[in-house]
Amino acid sequence: MIFVTGGAGFIGSNFILEWFSKTTEALLNLDNLTYAGNLANLESVNDKAHYHFVKGDINDRTLLNALFDAHKPRALINFAAESHVDRSIHGPAIFIKTNIEGTFALLETAKEYWSSLAADDREKFRFLHVSTDEVYGSLDEDAPPFSETHPYQPNSPYSASKAASDHLVRAWHHTYGFPVLTTNCSNNYGPYQFPEKLIPLTIARALQNKNIPIYGDGKNIRDWLYVGDHCNAIMVALNEGKVGETYNIGGWNEIKNIDIVTTICDLLDELRPDALGPYKRLITFIQDRPGHDRRYAINATKIHKDLGWHPQETFYTGIRKTVEWYLSNQDWVKNIESGSYQNWIQKNYSNCL
Ligand code: NAD
Ligand code: TYD
Repeated sequence: MIFVTGGAGFIGSNFILEWFSKTTEALLNLDNLTYAGNLANLESVNDKAHYHFVKGDINDRTLLNALFDAHKPRALINFAAESHVDRSIHGPAIFIKTNIEGTFALLETAKEYWSSLAADDREKFRFLHVSTDEVYGSLDEDAPPFSETHPYQPNSPYSASKAASDHLVRAWHHTYGFPVLTTNCSNNYGPYQFPEKLIPLTIARALQNKNIPIYGDGKNIRDWLYVGDHCNAIMVALNEGKVGETYNIGGWNEIKNIDIVTTICDLLDELRPDALGPYKRLITFIQDRPGHDRRYAINATKIHKDLGWHPQETFYTGIRKTVEWYLSNQDWVKNIESGSYQNWIQKNYSNCL
């Protein structure tokens, strides 16, 4: 069986759904259900005998030891994290606690478990750490995309905490021979993404006839990857990746924020036209995010050449699927918006919207 942390979040839950569409191998999901964790994402697998959910914290070493002992996983995939840059600007402490100390706790307990395995199982064990392209910092307009050897230059509390966790993972391999893999992926989008991130936020606000906030001049660039493609890349890296290696994962889709938002507005005009006029009327440029990275871009040649992975979706097929999913799952969005979400919107946007 495999052990997944943070499986009730956006990427983790997509991964679990994808996992059970492909295999009957058992999976244990440990998640402490922060604001970003949502068990509704996993309703369709809840009843499966080979799916196990435990509510708990990756910093709880007693719990981790008990879970390793009881379930004897062949691999651990670490999705658990605080993941939103804007929240890391308002309150970095929990990013240090979860992303750095939590990864440390996982490494220590997983290493202890791994050391106790018989030689054959020890040989097969993998610790896959899911990370981000944001650890590499910001690129100039004409600079080549990030390769795996690009220096780490994180600029936000979020990316600095992820960079620190990547370094710990690297060191546990280098020092102890612990069998790690690290994946650094670009911006994901797709079903079940919490509407604090640009794409679901845009869809949600457009449908509520509220202003759509764009930071600065809207020309910041991200590489965008459909979440299903990311999940497949993680499975490929888990099964085929070379121990100790890092793999950059990206969609070869560099797009300016303003073009992302405009594309979504155009799709909504087509799929859910609004009597008040085109959704673009809601676009509002607001004060920039402090330290806002200008451009991210991923060179995904290594994972393509070495492991044969490449994305199935283009941005235009993926974003259509995504907008259609949000239109068909408005109850999912409404459930989230009835909670502490409104406080977040107040806190982050009160001065500018
Ligand atoms: P998310 O915020 O949607 O989900 C994170 C999950 O982790 C939630 O279910 C939350 O409850 C859980 N969690 C948080 N703290 C925990 C703790 N202490 N113990 C147990 N569970 C805890 O994040 P996501 O977008 O799904 O990202 C998953 C991973 O992928 C993160 O490590 C993130 O850095 C990385 N990543 C995300 C993106 C992206 O675009 N979203 C891109 C590249 C890499
Ligand atoms: P986000 O989805 O927060 O991901 P990240 O910061 O991890 O890349 O943001 C994507 C881009 O969209 C980023 O350049 C910031 C910008 N953005 C806005 O312009 N307005 C917003 O309200 C948000 C949340 C993001």
